[in-house]
Amino acid sequence: MIYIANWKMYGKKHQNLAVNKIIQLSKKKKYKKTKIIYCPPFTLLSDLKKILSYTNIDTGAQNCHEENEYGPFTGGVNCKLIKSAGAKYVILGHSETRNIETNSLINKKIIIALKNKLKVIFCFGETLSEKKKNKTHTIIKNQIKECTKSVVNINNIIFAYEPRWSIGTGKIPKISELNKIFSHIKKTIISLKKKGKKKLIYGGSVNPSNISDLINIKDSTGFLIGNASLSEKKFIDIIKKSTI
Ligand code: PGA
Repeated sequence: MIYIANWKMYGKKHQNLAVNKIIQLSKKKKYKKTKIIYCPPFTLLSDLKKILSYTNIDTGAQNCHEENEYGPFTGGVNCKLIKSAGAKYVILGHSETRNIETNSLINKKIIIALKNKLKVIFCFGETLSEKKKNKTHTIIKNQIKECTKSVVNINNIIFAYEPRWSIGTGKIPKISELNKIFSHIKKTIISLKKKGKKKLIYGGSVNPSNISDLINIKDSTGFLIGNASLSEKKFIDIIKKSTI
């Protein structure tokens, strides 16, 4: 199982870097196959990486600039800078950045990230109004198709289905609905004839109370967790409740 902590724009340095209990948990035999990835704000990446050295826990950035080379882009952080902070992953296409990003820009970023040997956590999902208009499947298909254009091998991509109306709202789709959507995602990826292993995860209001339900999504192998990952206790609870 994969557990990705998306800290968003939170992170009081000392409060958030308290990850000792997670480190202890990750070293237990039962959790040897568990993949934990922390995605803090850029400013905490290097510090967190230091704390996590000698563990199998990885770090990731929450976005990247689409420019491959260093350059005069004030406020920009490209993949080279992310890598030099020790990160192995980057979240791309997140709902909270999609307002200013098109599928084609996300595609450009995915290609650059993979070229720089960063693994991509690719987020996609429908808005509430798209859901109400029964457009979920079409929207997802388009997002996957356009954002992964020219990507031949998906081995280094984690596909994170995050219904945009579920993020930060406490609302999650029914498991029966999720099963249909995940099967649609699988079929979409197959129809695009991508090489490599499909890794699909769910994100959106995952917490210790709903994790026992969410674990029943058939084709999901993990979770992208925002708010609940800011509390080490809740994050551990989620991991424990979903590991057999
Ligand atoms: P949430 O966020 O768990 O707070 O809903 C998930 C995400 O934004 O990735």
